[in-house]
Amino acid sequence: MFITFEGIDGCGKTTQLNLLHKYLKDIGYNVLTTREPGSTPLAEKLRNVLLNMEYNISSVSEILMFEAARAELVDSVIHPAICRKQIVLSDRFYDSTIAYQGFGRQQNIDDIKLLNKITIREIIPNFTFLLDIPYSVSLERRFGSIDDRIESTGNAFYERVIAGYRSIAEEEPDRVKMIDATQSKEDIFHQIIQIVKPALPPI
Ligand code: TYD
Repeated sequence: MFITFEGIDGCGKTTQLNLLHKYLKDIGYNVLTTREPGSTPLAEKLRNVLLNMEYNISSVSEILMFEAARAELVDSVIHPAICRKQIVLSDRFYDSTIAYQGFGRQQNIDDIKLLNKITIREIIPNFTFLLDIPYSVSLERRFGSIDDRIESTGNAFYERVIAGYRSIAEEEPDRVKMIDATQSKEDIFHQIIQIVKPALPPI
């Protein structure tokens, strides 16, 4: 089983992922958590480049680096773990590239879908939890922390990313479950569990 978490920065997806990891582990599942970009030595290096304010990265090379990081992660971590029947939870996956680079940076979505298809090798999440918050809440939650290269892109960019995520959820309602992430973390987690529990494989 493969579950991914999506949303703009500050939406609380990492908190929910960690809660789900603990819940599944406590009831006896073998769980593996990954994050994108990252989770392999090369992908973590690409993450450092992608988030570093020092670099001025073109939109196309940004897409290709996110995709390269994803290809590494799928081949060396996610695919083998799914073959071992582990439950894999990922903090972001290919929807991030559609939302951020496609909608946010206004790059060609069909091209990104093709690149995603190449990198994921037919590994599609069983569920994707989209934690939806308005940009104003993201800003409040990130108040005081230093922006990375993507976070510093600004208001209009984030509004497009939010709209992009919502349209992905509308397009694929069976996979992508949009949750109002302005609710308490307990309420959000309750909704996630209601969806995941009936679909869990036997231990
Ligand atoms: P994330 O790990 O969620 O950031 P943080 O740990 O700082 O909360 O994601 C890193 C950033 O990369 C985030 O701003 C979203 C961006 N991103 C893209 O723009 N495209 C992608 O394909 C991915 C995976 C992430």
